[in-house]
Amino acid sequence: MRILAVETSCDETAAAVVEDGARVLSNVVSSQAALHAPYGGVVPELASRHHIENVCPVIEQALGDAGVDLDRIDVVAATQGPGLIGSLLVGVQVAKGIAYVRKLPLVPVHHVAGHLEAPFLTGEDIELPALALVVSGGHTSLIKMPARGTYHLLGRTRDDAAGEAFDKVAKLLGLGYPGGPAIERVARGANDRAIEFAVAKMSDGRPDFSFSGIKTAVLHYVRSRGIAPAESLDDAPETIRNLAASFQRGVVTALLLRLREVAERERPRSLLLTGGVAANAALRREAAVLAGDLGLPLHVPPLRFTTDNAAMIGAAGFIAHRRGVRAGWDLNAEARLPLP
Ligand code: KG4
Ligand code: ZN
Repeated sequence: MRILAVETSCDETAAAVVEDGARVLSNVVSSQAALHAPYGGVVPELASRHHIENVCPVIEQALGDAGVDLDRIDVVAATQGPGLIGSLLVGVQVAKGIAYVRKLPLVPVHHVAGHLEAPFLTGEDIELPALALVVSGGHTSLIKMPARGTYHLLGRTRDDAAGEAFDKVAKLLGLGYPGGPAIERVARGANDRAIEFAVAKMSDGRPDFSFSGIKTAVLHYVRSRGIAPAESLDDAPETIRNLAASFQRGVVTALLLRLREVAERERPRSLLLTGGVAANAALRREAAVLAGDLGLPLHVPPLRFTTDNAAMIGAAGFIAHRRGVRAGWDLNAEARLPLP
């Protein structure tokens, strides 16, 4: 069964053709990062306008790369939410239009379900139940997957997502947007023990995350010492590089502390690490050490499936379709949407 999947929840216009939920025939991602970079973050209206311009060419390219036309598509899937509403509406409407005229089933997909199903795109044998750490610009969650398509939310961020904290701290340090890759780059080889950032504790003991504290701690550090933002990524001064490295270590430590606690309690058979921040080499490395300690296999999708893409929406759409999920022609996008 061949799915055409469309993803437009944030600043990537993406389309993919995925066969039987696992064979990726094409995966086209048109990033708007350069467009939003001067603003230090995603400007929602600009994002929507660019999705409108790009979505049809991106779909055409996805069909072309897969060597199929719409006659050979069986199902259309689109990210219904959560995300930026103006961006989501573009993908939902274009998918609805295609499904409507071709008389195809239309499957709505939760963006985080996409990130959760991404590790399965490599065809690896993943033992379930799995415990997943989803870390992106919009989400930081610990989710248990007893079966494909079944998701239990065990912990989440109470304020900023980890990627959002990377983006805000990078902006503060003059490192540009997107912040995660910029911080990772300047942190390489720097002293990640220069500053100790405390891991936020939850007073109710829940395995939740909080990243607004570390972001504010960086702000105070910079202000109290009169540290000027870097003028460019390539010659960031040592104070900024050490600060970036210490911040990165603080975030990685906080993420893995909760992952360890919940893994010890839930005893899953494997660990999944997914979402844009999973591109971070320090996080991947430390997560592998943790998995080794726990004696569990760790599955991290390749980079093209960790950051936003439509192949993961195709994988999640396949599972949802198999479970009988169908949208009506009144399908709407939802900026906030609970996990199915
Ligand atoms: O999954 P994603 O592409 O979009 C969302 O669903 O949000 O994640 C984007 C986020 C951004 O905040 C970006 O700064 C972060 O992932 N990110 C990274 C790295 N690459 C991307 N964070 C840390 N290290 C990286 N190498
Ligand atoms: Zn995402």
